[in-house]
Amino acid sequence: MMGMTAASRCAIAMALCMGIGVASAQAPASRPWGDATLPPDARAGLLLARLTQDEKFQLIRSYYAGPDRPADKPFPRGAIASAGYVPPIPRLGIPALEESDAGLGVASSDRMRPGDHATPLPAGPVMAASWDPQVAFRGGAMIGAEAHAKGFNVLLAGGINLMREPRNGRNFEYAGEDPLLAGRIVGEAIRGVQGAHVISTIKHYALNDQETGRSTISAQIGEQAMRESDLLAFELAIERGQPGAVMCSYNKVNGDWACENDYLMNQVLKRDWRYPGFVMSDWGGVHSAAKAVNAGLDQESAGEVFDPQVFFDAPLRQALAKGEVSQSRLDDMVRRILRSMFAAGLFEHPAKPAPIDEVAHLAVARETLEAGAVLLRNEHGLLPLDAGQLASVAVIGAHADKGVLAGGGSSLVTARGGNAVPGLAPTGWPGPVMYHPYPPLAALRAMAPKASVRFAGGEDVTAAAALAAQSQVAVVFVQKWQAESVDAPDLSLPDGQDALVEAVARANPRTVVVLENGGPVAMPWLDRVGAVLEVWYPGGDAGTAIANLLSGKVDPSGRLPLSWPRELSQLPRPELPAAAGGTPPATVDYGIEGADIGYRWYQSRGIAPLFPFGYGLSYTRFQHGPLKLDTHGGQVQATVTVRNTGARAGAEVAQVYVQVPGAKARRLASFAKVFLKPGEQREVTMPLERRLFAEFDPATHGWVVRGGSYAVYEGRSSADLGEPVNVQLAEARF
Ligand code: BGC
Repeated sequence: MMGMTAASRCAIAMALCMGIGVASAQAPASRPWGDATLPPDARAGLLLARLTQDEKFQLIRSYYAGPDRPADKPFPRGAIASAGYVPPIPRLGIPALEESDAGLGVASSDRMRPGDHATPLPAGPVMAASWDPQVAFRGGAMIGAEAHAKGFNVLLAGGINLMREPRNGRNFEYAGEDPLLAGRIVGEAIRGVQGAHVISTIKHYALNDQETGRSTISAQIGEQAMRESDLLAFELAIERGQPGAVMCSYNKVNGDWACENDYLMNQVLKRDWRYPGFVMSDWGGVHSAAKAVNAGLDQESAGEVFDPQVFFDAPLRQALAKGEVSQSRLDDMVRRILRSMFAAGLFEHPAKPAPIDEVAHLAVARETLEAGAVLLRNEHGLLPLDAGQLASVAVIGAHADKGVLAGGGSSLVTARGGNAVPGLAPTGWPGPVMYHPYPPLAALRAMAPKASVRFAGGEDVTAAAALAAQSQVAVVFVQKWQAESVDAPDLSLPDGQDALVEAVARANPRTVVVLENGGPVAMPWLDRVGAVLEVWYPGGDAGTAIANLLSGKVDPSGRLPLSWPRELSQLPRPELPAAAGGTPPATVDYGIEGADIGYRWYQSRGIAPLFPFGYGLSYTRFQHGPLKLDTHGGQVQATVTVRNTGARAGAEVAQVYVQVPGAKARRLASFAKVFLKPGEQREVTMPLERRLFAEFDPATHGWVVRGGSYAVYEGRSSADLGEPVNVQLAEARF
């Protein structure tokens, strides 16, 4: 396997020789935890009883295994170069934990494993924009399989921070602004990863919704508001995906570090949600021993490199000796880690080098983009392009001759072929700026073999406009690189790209803009271009997917998982202090919008964003029949018939929203994606999530549905809904 060190190969071989991971339902009497028919909790308990105190301490911390470790910190022997490593305990058959980033593929870059490569999935918002849990599951299963075949058994995946801040540099790792959609999509992706016998995290718990000041800032928000928004997204995704680990975040929440936050970890996660897995810290997120442990943190990640000291060694031993931490809590930490290892099948299915079906994996990436690209504008039927009839196409900008842009930071995946445009700044963290080698230009040439498809880089605006003027249609690629640890100071496109689009559109109104970006961008030229296709960071085989979407081989069926602001003044926090540098403030006030994130903010304030949540065009037309509701014991079900009245096959997303009495905003309560041939119709039944009818009551730690009449809407987006149907609900607590 490329990219594996000799040491790690030996470690894996040795581990196999020593019997680590040998599957057996009939475990020898000396290793009763090896009985795979026992529940994970029981197995963890049996194994815990055999561990020495030192072995317990070994399991509650990981080591950084990046080659860029400081010189005085030797590389952990046996580790695959990656984000984290917990050494094995061979005498008991406990495998090492080999932890790799992240949710968009097995992260690797020159920083991590030079020469290694993996299949890059499109950005998180693409997965969410598919509104298709099966797409998310397949993506998760693909990256899980790849991780496993590279020797990893933990993926630091499952990014689910809600989009309170459109400028957040990590929006491309997440799943948009809505707790239900994000919860379902991320939960399914996690389920996919773990089906490959790889533990997935869910992260970053919680309210790490901006990168500016991420390691100092305190997110201020009321309990009810956070339970109904960011924490609801986690709750739903954890229910669905049952991730083995939760990664606590860098920031503080209401004044307490997330990784020593008793409310988040003990009270909500472990008490209210009965979460049985373990909490691992983000890299550099630990600030104490006793406080963190007593608040619910179970494992310190790479503390020897990222924390001021390794808290979960000598300081924790001292805290134990002084009685500040109990032995039973230490045992609980270890039991949780082992439990997740058993639950994901790490003992029976050891991760080891295996061949990877790269063709099949690239197809998963391509299909994800085909399901999640969003057609934002299409005037006068400019799209789909009639590939057979086209004589000339101008392809312009964003290195579309070489590849497609990726987001930066720990999630960065290096595809086969490496960086298609090396050397762009920043080349160091959170860079490198990476273009995956799936060039749209080549794919558009293949799409229209009879046409003259010519490329202009776009640096020379006059030349680009001249090429557009000579062509039947111009496809302009624009990009905005975003990365972990930095937010965008504003929504603008960099490098004079607005002027480029303006000039091209002036030269040829048949201009299609393809956006490669991490979050919403300003489009001052929007009214003057013919079509806009949003592909975010589009991942593996993106060129082919883009050509398939532009030519209509595939109908665009993505719908926005986020609201697209018209301008910053529409946001709850128009300013993002220190995004462009300087000292960030001590706090960020998420109480302004509270639980009303995104479309709920816009609706409650009567503001029309540029594009609403749930919006996206198609090449065909759909008709939604009348909405019917059924209620059984407080559970409401919506039924609607969707019909494809156009001439092309396509997919529609039926979206159901609830308006609770007295509220101005509606809440997404269910959805279903329906694939329909021309003329076909289908009745879809969607159970509505009960917690979306409810409010969270901090006094009882539970949900309350107030008795009354609830308006339920169904339609094509949060702003395009049919007539409401009312449902009468009795008061209920759960
Ligand atoms: C990021 C995490 C990541 C970790 C390990 C941190 O900087 O916030 O998302 O998993 O590094 O690379």
